[in-house]
Amino acid sequence: MSSTSEARTYEHARDVAVDAALQAGRLVRTHAGRLREVDVRHKGVHDLVTNVDEASQALITRLLRQAYPDHTVLAEEGVHSAALVEVADGHRWIIDPIDGTTNFTHGLPPYAVSIALQRGAEVVLGVVLEVAHEELFTVIRGDGAYRNGVRIRVSQRPTLDRSLLATGFPYRAFSHVDSYLRVFRRFMQETRGVRRLGAAAIDLAYVACGRFDGFFETGLNAWDVAAGALLVEEAGGRVSDYHNAPNPLFKKQILATNGSLHEAMLDILAPMRDVVA
Ligand code: IPD
Ligand code: CA
Ligand code: CA
Repeated sequence: MSSTSEARTYEHARDVAVDAALQAGRLVRTHAGRLREVDVRHKGVHDLVTNVDEASQALITRLLRQAYPDHTVLAEEGVHSAALVEVADGHRWIIDPIDGTTNFTHGLPPYAVSIALQRGAEVVLGVVLEVAHEELFTVIRGDGAYRNGVRIRVSQRPTLDRSLLATGFPYRAFSHVDSYLRVFRRFMQETRGVRRLGAAAIDLAYVACGRFDGFFETGLNAWDVAAGALLVEEAGGRVSDYHNAPNPLFKKQILATNGSLHEAMLDILAPMRDVVA
């Protein structure tokens, strides 16, 4: 299929995903800043879930299944670990009902709804809604990346010393903190700054629209990155694992850049090449 006809094929699915994200976003916004500590449960060390994550996931899943009963779904809450590596046969939706649950729990934007559609091993469309500002990022493979309907591109900053980066700090597994800090120290010294927003889907969307020049994190799952990684690629950037292998959805390592910074960031990330937690 040519990329234009592929883009047309997925326009309806994109619209269904946008509608699901906007409805879920309204639901999430209704509860923003009103959570009580008893509404928050721990899935693992520092890994939170609330009834709003579950309600958002139920809403999105219902809307997608209604429109596409034959598609399968990989969604964060209640997922079985076997599904984390499985490559979908046919079409599979990948859903993060709230990306940035810790932020949401503390009433601190940003947090997002992230929805992607995978065909075989390839992500074909993505939607990331930054909930607090209703900023909507959409992408179909071959058709470019958009923010609120306007085409976006990655930044053109050519060198690290002019760049602003994003990362996620380790917070669940700490065995690799020392190598993370070695890497972090270099980025701290060699860039304009490093931010930790707390929502990977938004970090990636911000690379896609040029606010960040690069983003790296380990330990992420497919639902954190599926939509955002395609946004970066379609906005002209590069996405890989720390070995520079493409399509890092299930690799638990992601580097996303404006392209120009990719090699320099890979070099600095060398001490973390084998870290996947
Ligand atoms: C988390 C956020 C965060 C990242 C974590 C993710 P969640 O997603 O994207 O920025 O550092 O690793 O798990 O749990 O809020 O959906
Ligand atoms: Ca997430
Ligand atoms: Ca989540």
